[in-house]
Amino acid sequence: MILSPSILSADFAILGEQVRVIENAGAQWLHIDVMDGHFVDNLSFAMPVVKSIRKHSGLFFDAHLMIENPERYIDRMIDAGADGVCFHIEAAKDPAQCMDMIHKRGKKAAIALNPDTELDTVLPYINGLDMVLLMTVVPGLGGQKYIDRVNEKIKRLRSIAGEDFLIQVDGGITLDNVDVAVSAGANVIVAGTCVFSGDIEKNIKTLMKI
Ligand code: DX5
Ligand code: ZN
Repeated sequence: MILSPSILSADFAILGEQVRVIENAGAQWLHIDVMDGHFVDNLSFAMPVVKSIRKHSGLFFDAHLMIENPERYIDRMIDAGADGVCFHIEAAKDPAQCMDMIHKRGKKAAIALNPDTELDTVLPYINGLDMVLLMTVVPGLGGQKYIDRVNEKIKRLRSIAGEDFLIQVDGGITLDNVDVAVSAGANVIVAGTCVFSGDIEKNIKTLMKI
């Protein structure tokens, strides 16, 4: 299981320090939630922040683009330091072109699906993808409740994609339900609120033991 703590819930006044704590606690990835105010209502942060933390971290930077027209920003996110770029199938005009752009830069390509988006929409691209992200909340906000009905989608994707394929879940993960997502077949876990509430190091260690 790979843990990808989401910095959306971090204290941005001490972001560099918190990224160091995450890295020292043993997490392998860092989840970077980019929001554009169009695909989702909220705004978050983008390239300048990624560039700043890139200098201080060797973690795999897992960029989750919750933006319209992701093709406009793929190269810029990679220039800023992303190791993997995940775009939404609902937002991309040409998913294959986006995947190509990411792979041409030698980075990992992933497609994200909103909770109500049918799994079938991503299946034509599966063979060329490094990961699929199944959203377990409606994107746009941290701290929401895990949507249980996505478990069936995780199980179905696991049976189709095989045991080594990376299936990421994002949203509403807690110390109490992470085992449900993992038993359904998820092997890359995003956690924001749960990691940053209280003792970051302890939360990461507990999540990684489950
Ligand atoms: C939601 C984001 C998530 C979010 C998860 O739009 O994509 O990555 O930060 O946060 P929690 O773990 O608080 O649900
Ligand atoms: Zn995310």
